[in-house]
Amino acid sequence: MKIVVVGGCGHVGLPLGVKFALCGFETTLVDIDQKAVDKVNSGTFPFLELGGDKQLQESLSVGLTATTNIESCKTADAIVFVIGTPVDEHLNPKLSDVIKIFDYYLPLLKDGALVIMRSTLFPGTMEHLKNRITEMSKKSTGQFPKNLKLAFCPERVAQGYALDEIDTLPQIVSAFDEESFKSALEIFNKIAPKIIRLDPKEAELTKLMANSWRYLEFAIANQFYMIAESKGLDFFKIYDAIRHDYPRAKGYKSPGLSAGPCLFKDTMQLASFFDHQFYMGHSAMLVNEGLAGFLVDKLLSVLNKTTGEEGLWGKKVGLLGMTFKADNDDIRESLSYRVKKALEFKGAEIMIHDPYLDESTELDTILSTSDAIIIGTPHKEYQNLTFNMPIIDVWGNFTKRDLEVYDSPKNASIEQKKVSNL
Ligand SMILES: NC(=O)c1ccc[n+]([C@@H]2O[C@H](COP(=O)([O-])OP(=O)(O)OC[C@H]3O[C@@H](n4cnc5c(N)ncnc54)[C@H](O)[C@@H]3O)[C@@H](O)[C@H]2O)c1
Repeated sequence: MKIVVVGGCGHVGLPLGVKFALCGFETTLVDIDQKAVDKVNSGTFPFLELGGDKQLQESLSVGLTATTNIESCKTADAIVFVIGTPVDEHLNPKLSDVIKIFDYYLPLLKDGALVIMRSTLFPGTMEHLKNRITEMSKKSTGQFPKNLKLAFCPERVAQGYALDEIDTLPQIVSAFDEESFKSALEIFNKIAPKIIRLDPKEAELTKLMANSWRYLEFAIANQFYMIAESKGLDFFKIYDAIRHDYPRAKGYKSPGLSAGPCLFKDTMQLASFFDHQFYMGHSAMLVNEGLAGFLVDKLLSVLNKTTGEEGLWGKKVGLLGMTFKADNDDIRESLSYRVKKALEFKGAEIMIHDPYLDESTELDTILSTSDAIIIGTPHKEYQNLTFNMPIIDVWGNFTKRDLEVYDSPKNASIEQKKVSNL
């Protein structure tokens, strides 16, 4: 079976294409980004992916290829679309990208080909695409492929860990008809450990709700951080107290700059689907996005207290970590850039560092000349640093954790009881 992945050199398309090839499918990656295509063909991932290069090289040796040429679509048994699905400037889904790509590629396909949507979709998009196929075939003056099949099989992996997670996460497969479902099942049965069958709109919502849930979890942690710190209290002492030997708080997220290409926009897609009445989603967005400004204000007040001077004019501030998450090279929608802008606006002289960026200032220079530091991303390279200047660290890695816990005599009898109950 021949599979073409459109958007095949992107963060979701490439790991998927690699897995298809390793499972024995004849796989071609089509992408408009020539640089990424060249890199992939040379055996290197264009971005950070755990175990990426090794598996890519194995897949190239069994026939995987990347190209900007769309001709390969003509002979594909299945075509998988994995392009970006952003929101527009009004925070509504930008459907035009999906529709454009659909209109462009579909007339090229052969009769009976299976079309798989893999991007995260605004609920109702699959219904639109199903009807669009019918309309396109009616209106077509030339040859339009007959009996196209259509399925939605969303990606749910964490960026940077896709190759691992494709092997371990259940795969959602949805289609309007049995034949399309069975064709998609035949493919994903080969790469996923379990398949969950849903209707297309259920699948669209499943993906959006999963990401919104995560975004809200981060927002509540960030909101509590802002409440405690704005009242002059040590949030992490409270956080540690909440979680200490308290099983119900096990999943309580730690605060941090929550950003990236998915969580924000997927929460806004869900809000748009619910006619902008997803109040918790909007609140989460205000909190998570507002954290950047909160950290800059916090730095301002800490510096003013220590130097007695007003404002940030003439102050050197080091910003460590620019990617949207730790130990990853992706800067898309990273809130570190919002922090940087706010600092610049207040007159600070900024030096940025990130182990994954070329345009970094030397870490030693930052550590020896900065008046203050903000940790934008808690990369592992920063974990053992010591700082001689005020530091704003929402992640809590450099905050002294001094929760006082006393073992009471009762503890001994509780421990004993546990043992005798075994
Ligand atoms: N990044 C993640 O971890 C992740 C996880 C789950 C789901 N998703 C979803 O997957 C989708 C893709 O996200 P991504 O992070 O892989 O995006 P990406 O930008 O990394 O990849 C998209 C790729 O599509 C290519 N492309 C754009 N237009 C094209 C065209 N007309 N023809 C061929 N190729 C084209 C781009 O060059 C790029 O390589 C989005 O809907 C996203 O929400 C992403």
